[in-house]
Amino acid sequence: MNVNPDRVSQMEEQDKRIEQKLKNIQYRIAVFSGKGGVGKSTVAVNLAYALLTKKLKVGLLDADITGPNIPQMVGLSGMPDMMDQHQILPQIKEGLRVISIAPMIPKDQPVIWRGPLRSGTISQFLADVVWDELDMLVTDLPPGTGDEVLTVSQKMHPQLAIIVTTPQEVSLIDCRRAVNMAKKLNIPKIAVVENMAGLICPHCGETIDFFGVGGGEQMAMDMDVAFLGRIPMEQQSRECGDNGTPLVLQYPQSVTAKAFVLIAEEISKLLKAGQQS
Ligand SMILES: Nc1ncnc2c1ncn2[C@@H]1O[C@H](COP(=O)(O)OP(=O)(O)O)[C@@H](O)[C@H]1O
Ligand SMILES: [Mg+2]
Repeated sequence: MNVNPDRVSQMEEQDKRIEQKLKNIQYRIAVFSGKGGVGKSTVAVNLAYALLTKKLKVGLLDADITGPNIPQMVGLSGMPDMMDQHQILPQIKEGLRVISIAPMIPKDQPVIWRGPLRSGTISQFLADVVWDELDMLVTDLPPGTGDEVLTVSQKMHPQLAIIVTTPQEVSLIDCRRAVNMAKKLNIPKIAVVENMAGLICPHCGETIDFFGVGGGEQMAMDMDVAFLGRIPMEQQSRECGDNGTPLVLQYPQSVTAKAFVLIAEEISKLLKAGQQS
């Protein structure tokens, strides 16, 4: 096998820059799931804003390279500024610092990249985004247990994996795989969020057990990981995601926004638990 010494030294330099950047980020959280469409990006965005309301400095890294939804969901357009080749400034929306590949690819064009290129982009973000000091960096990952999760785990060293599931069995099956992956990757803390737990009727406000309720909590118990809480399905949540107006800021009194704030409090407790001060 041919090894290009220039490439090796570039990667070593990049790893050094990543290590330097990580020193300024106190807690790193990876949000993933076994399955698509369960609400990872929605959870990542709203938890980031819920943490921000706790007066924390928060960054949101969109590590879903082939399906980067974060700018749309937080209402960001335009390109991030670059100070030089190795200094990318995050975009800022309502105090949240955001980085995504989305503004760098033409609209509606697919990102047809194999794993190494996707991993390389995540590494570049970790090495070159100038977050300054952060209390929390939330990372939104694509579904499944592929390269992106491996890269984030190996390079970003998250202290917490949040695994999002819906309550129905087809999602729970994949969620168990994701929990086991987080265990194999030795992510120190693993927690489950149950999303779409009941549908709040927009007319009468009653909750309908559309996908069932409680499956995520039971699974977390069975697999001996933490359970952070459940989030119902609410029309405002979907609308906010589509319109780029974060629900936690737009409708702080909604059931869903309150659930996110409670989960953010649980996250802070979980991260601080067992930590020496
Ligand atoms: N709790 C919720 N209430 C209402 N809509 C939701 C909720 N969670 C997710 N959605 C909607 O479901 C769709 C898929 O969510 P998304 O966060 O993109 O999932 P993923 O990132 O797992 O693919 C989006 O349109 C989103 O607005
Ligand atoms: Mg997503």
